[in-house]
Amino acid sequence: MKITALAWFGLALPLALVAAEKRPIDTSKIPLPVPRKVDFVKEVYPIFKEACISCHGPEKQKGKYRMDSKEAAFKDTDYGPTIVPGKSAESSLIQMSCNLIDEMMMPPPSDTPGKSEPLTGEQIGILRAWIDQGAEWVAGAEGYVKPVTFAADIQPIFQQACATCHGLEAPQGEFVATQLAAVLKGGKAYGRVVMPGAVKTSSLITIISGLDEDLPQSEKHRLKPKEIELVKKWIELGAK
Ligand code: HEC
Ligand code: HEC
Repeated sequence: MKITALAWFGLALPLALVAAEKRPIDTSKIPLPVPRKVDFVKEVYPIFKEACISCHGPEKQKGKYRMDSKEAAFKDTDYGPTIVPGKSAESSLIQMSCNLIDEMMMPPPSDTPGKSEPLTGEQIGILRAWIDQGAEWVAGAEGYVKPVTFAADIQPIFQQACATCHGLEAPQGEFVATQLAAVLKGGKAYGRVVMPGAVKTSSLITIISGLDEDLPQSEKHRLKPKEIELVKKWIELGAK
């Protein structure tokens, strides 16, 4: 036993030293680029805004890095250049987003659920496609507001979390959660729960935060923090 342990140690140590010097990065498991032309303003920058800018923007510059301008975003780091036009797998920004660089997972994992979630395969695919297509940085992306619609963003959430009790068949409280018109109409006891443009007076937010104690099953109504944010945004933008 002792001998094998020692032999293993003797082998592992030099290997670890070599690894620290230049660790080969296995890029074979990175999600593939999406197979279409992507739009920087509408698709790429919104990912930065949602997942990175809070730590790498005007307010904070963690690791002395910011990504709200082209000059700053295309930075050379100790782990290689962040964005290499035409070569997404060699871009350290992609490698960090896929957790391929030790201790440099971006965004960094958080203990608070829903606070700092890893990018999805689709989001990484969009970033990769943008870099492979030349990484063109279009000015004015900061001002773009991504639309939030019932059909694309809210319906899938309600379908999953509410449809068992608020589907078309005998919905609880006569509230149907899976169709835009029905959600805007509201339920039997509460009446309208969505006031387009007015998040504060929309009682739906209290309900989906699990905070409406008048409801018989208030806990069953709690959505994830990220989903609640999306519903708020949807109402704020007019509940279309
Ligand atoms: C919650 C805060 C937070 C978020 C969100 C975040 N980062 Fe970071 N980032 C950090 C910290 C902290 C460091 C410094 C880590 C270190 O050096 O050990 C860092 C460092 C980096 C670096 C290396 C900079 C350098 O010069 O060494 C890059 C590149 C980076 N982040 C990219 C991203 C990207 C891309 C996203 C979004 C997908 C992101 N980060 C989201 C906190 C964050
Ligand atoms: C496990 C079943 C269940 C789930 C899941 C559920 N609800 Fe409910 N909901 C109820 C019950 C029971 C009531 C009370 C019905 C009553 O008073 O007759 C209710 C009432 C409501 C009301 C008030 C209706 C009225 O009377 O005006 C709204 C609005 C509502 N739910 C929205 C939602 C939304 C949005 C979701 C998904 C995030 C959801 N519910 C998930 C069971 C559920």
